Amino acid sequence: MKYVPFGKLGFEVSRYGLGCMRLPLELQPDGSTSTEAIDEKHAIAMIRHAADSGVNYFDTAHGYHGGNSKIVLGKALSDGYRERVLVASKLPPWNVKTADDFERILDEHLVALRTDHIDFWLLHSMNRESWEKLLNLGILEHLDAMVAKGKIRFPAFSFHDDLDVFKEILDAYDWKMCQIQYNLLDIDHQAGRAGLKYAAGKGVPVVVMEPLKGGRLAGNVPQYVLDRWATAQTQRSPQEWAFRWLADQPEVTVVLSGASNMDQLKDSLEIFQTAEVDALSDAERRLVDEVRRLYQSRTRVDCTACDYCLPCPAGVAIPRIFALINEGSMYENWAEVQKRYAKLVDEGNGAKQCVACGNCEAVCPQSLEIIKDLKMAHQALVP
Ligand SMILES: NC(=O)c1ccc[n+]([C@@H]2O[C@H](COP(=O)([O-])OP(=O)(O)OC[C@H]3O[C@@H](n4cnc5c(N)ncnc54)[C@H](OP(=O)(O)O)[C@@H]3O)[C@@H](O)[C@H]2O)c1
Ligand code: SF4
Ligand code: SF4
Repeated sequence: MKYVPFGKLGFEVSRYGLGCMRLPLELQPDGSTSTEAIDEKHAIAMIRHAADSGVNYFDTAHGYHGGNSKIVLGKALSDGYRERVLVASKLPPWNVKTADDFERILDEHLVALRTDHIDFWLLHSMNRESWEKLLNLGILEHLDAMVAKGKIRFPAFSFHDDLDVFKEILDAYDWKMCQIQYNLLDIDHQAGRAGLKYAAGKGVPVVVMEPLKGGRLAGNVPQYVLDRWATAQTQRSPQEWAFRWLADQPEVTVVLSGASNMDQLKDSLEIFQTAEVDALSDAERRLVDEVRRLYQSRTRVDCTACDYCLPCPAGVAIPRIFALINEGSMYENWAEVQKRYAKLVDEGNGAKQCVACGNCEAVCPQSLEIIKDLKMAHQALVP
């Protein structure tokens, strides 16, 4: 396992961190699975295997696996593991009504995680709205107080909004870490590469989440992408490219990835035994750029999900439908996106609801032909 200094905090961290949001699930008698029912034995074996292999960063949150992720992580880290690793968990702003909830939620985590302190306590999934809500309730004073009490070591936040909001939050406090979505496709999405560099420039370590885009950049990668990876001089799996591209960047401190089974975990651990900063050749970096452009060339509708067209008077979920058609086209995971579209239709938000009033087209900053594109999307999204 490769390690890097965790900013200026005075310790080293494994380059690979294990995210506990996609732990293996127990098979139910009817063959189905539920995200709440973790296969505990398998998950505990994976967490301990990761720790025994040198991983010292583990991430969970209140809501993962319906609240059970933190409990399983707590069990896995008993028997002496807790002392060897860093634990990150998160304050869910959607569960906060008053300032009294801050410490109550933190205390619940301490019990679930079987520990007397949490190393990284993140404000979960910050966006403008949740940030302002927590700020008005006095979150920054609360974080200082919890550090003073020893319940948390390092205040941090995870982020899902635009770059300007990211900079605003980053500038507002002495954060010890931030967590952003970043992968070889999402370089201009949310905080993106500009946010990564901004944080690193201020000396705030960055933990990257969704490095495989939740699994879409590995596993069932479409043939048109595999063919391009195959042109490389050194042959690597798609996940190895995605991980090495991140590890190559000095601004990325931890690559936080989930694993759905032991084989995936072992595969990822092997990659991080040798993945290093500044290790890709220029030709390899260019190849990653080519693969990104190849994926992007499959975009069917240039919707930026700005939501200006919402609400549609007929209830059409315009940007969600365009996201589905683009996803199907890029990742060729048609069966999955068709299933999700069927759910939208059932809820009365499908493209067929459109009455062609034209309101959306009048306000769309991308000047999209929304009515025509919705018809095209509906055809592709119905099997
Ligand atoms: N703070 C936030 O707002 C927030 C949001 C999202 C995530 N997170 C945290 O960040 C962590 C990382 O995000 P993520 O779980 O989405 O990471 P990810 O690495 O993008 O996706 C993990 C998924 O990729 C696939 N995978 C992983 N390793 C693989 C391998 N070696 N070979 C083939 N496939 C592999 C598996 O999916 P399949 O088996 O399904 O193919 C796995 O479940 C989460 O676990 C969570 O702790 C935080
Ligand atoms: S044109 Fe169709 S999709 Fe657009 S606002 Fe009107 S009903 Fe909604
Ligand atoms: S206004 Fe246009 S770009 Fe914005 S979400 Fe609607 S369709 Fe997409």
